[in-house]
Amino acid sequence: MLSPNPLSLLCALLLCLPLAIFFTTDTTHTATTTPIMFHIPMPLPRNISIQENPNKNLTSLSPLLSSLNIQDDKPHKVTTRVKGRPIKPNQKQLSTLLLSSLPSPLRQNPDDALFKAAMRVKSKPTRPKKVAFMFLTTKPLPFAPLWESYFNQTPTSKNLFNIYVHADPSFSYHAPFSGVFSNRVISSQSTRRFSPTLSAAARRLLAHALVDDMSNSVFVLISPSCIPLHSLKFTYHVLLRQGKSFVEILANEETAYDRWAARGPHAMLPEVRLEEFRVGSQFWALTRRHARLVVSDRVLWSKFDAPCVRFDSCYPEENYFPTLLSMWDPQGCVPATLTHVNWTGRVDGHPRTYEAWEVGPELIRRMREDRPRYGDGNSDGRSDPFLFARKFAPDALQPLMRIANGVIFRD
Ligand SMILES: *[C@@H]1O[C@H](CO)[C@@H](O)[C@H](O)[C@H]1NC(C)=O
Ligand SMILES: *[C@@H]1O[C@H](CO)[C@@H](O)[C@H](O)[C@H]1NC(C)=O
Ligand SMILES: *[C@@H]1O[C@H](CO)[C@@H](O)[C@H](O)[C@H]1NC(C)=O
Repeated sequence: MLSPNPLSLLCALLLCLPLAIFFTTDTTHTATTTPIMFHIPMPLPRNISIQENPNKNLTSLSPLLSSLNIQDDKPHKVTTRVKGRPIKPNQKQLSTLLLSSLPSPLRQNPDDALFKAAMRVKSKPTRPKKVAFMFLTTKPLPFAPLWESYFNQTPTSKNLFNIYVHADPSFSYHAPFSGVFSNRVISSQSTRRFSPTLSAAARRLLAHALVDDMSNSVFVLISPSCIPLHSLKFTYHVLLRQGKSFVEILANEETAYDRWAARGPHAMLPEVRLEEFRVGSQFWALTRRHARLVVSDRVLWSKFDAPCVRFDSCYPEENYFPTLLSMWDPQGCVPATLTHVNWTGRVDGHPRTYEAWEVGPELIRRMREDRPRYGDGNSDGRSDPFLFARKFAPDALQPLMRIANGVIFRD
């Protein structure tokens, strides 16, 4: 009698409703007057808020959305299964399930308003088009000085990019983000490997960047151990002239089954069949249209956002984006990443990390001469240059700074 059962939990939840409504109404009210509603440390300069076109349907998206059975504002059902049978949820899971089946305004997720606004922005960017550089980090950026010179190379390029930083608030940042990074930290949440939190952070970055500036046209995800391989101008032109996203999309990877089944053997069904599941680098460059598709997706995200039951094959950030885009718009993607990485001889799940002593003009030259792997082999005659490279140890900063102007920023 005393142990909570689903019914008593539901009753408890219903009792809370008036309170929830009160808070929600209050939040919505302040939302109309100030962008603080997103709890964004970074100011949102534009006039974009959830008040914009409140009744507008996603007309250009609707064929895609309906083919995927995505309905805006409809709660999605979360099912977790092991060996084909639904798992009996524990109390915490149950309240999550109940909450996720409530109409979205009653949920307390601070991202909700942001995503609502983001899925309503226009797909077509305004001019001059900009690149959104989105840094996903849990530590102070070790290569901040290198990026600082990268972004400051040409004074005229100032209006061609925006910077966004997602910084896990559970870590300490002993020096504040400064220079080009100051005031660019978005409202962030904790991230950790083997969980959906990294993909959630990437989605949050996309949503902020979509809402922040209507001229953001390409959205690039960057890690703290990542460096640029070319000048900003060169990078801008490579990313902008394509009109396509660069996302590594690999079918038939050895690890695909284990990754697909990481939440239970049938957990991804029916939305994502094994043959639709894809693997690819965590680091991509998305067009504005695709960024909006990502933030509008609820159905696939509810699958990838489910917790893993097996952690050794749980890498949602390397599966969600390639799977989503290959299902929705493979023609709009170049199936490759432009972030160089060296897996030669690695078995521990971490790519090779370049140390200070290895850094020199020769290394940059080798990386620039490499060409990306295109999906499952068909490059369609393409030969795109790598624009970024990882991973570099923090002490590589000094040798990198020495060759920045003479080598890295010289195309
Ligand atoms: C923002 O809104 C105000 C008042 O509605 C308007 O005067 C201003 O031009 C708008 N700014 C932009 C960038 O649209
Ligand atoms: C949006 O779509 C729904 C369902 O298709 C329809 O009932 C509604 O009237 C539409 N709203 C607008 C503003 O077009
Ligand atoms: C990648 O790593 C292998 C093995 O450590 C090395 O031989 C190769 O030169 C590296 N490639 C580049 C482009 O640095």
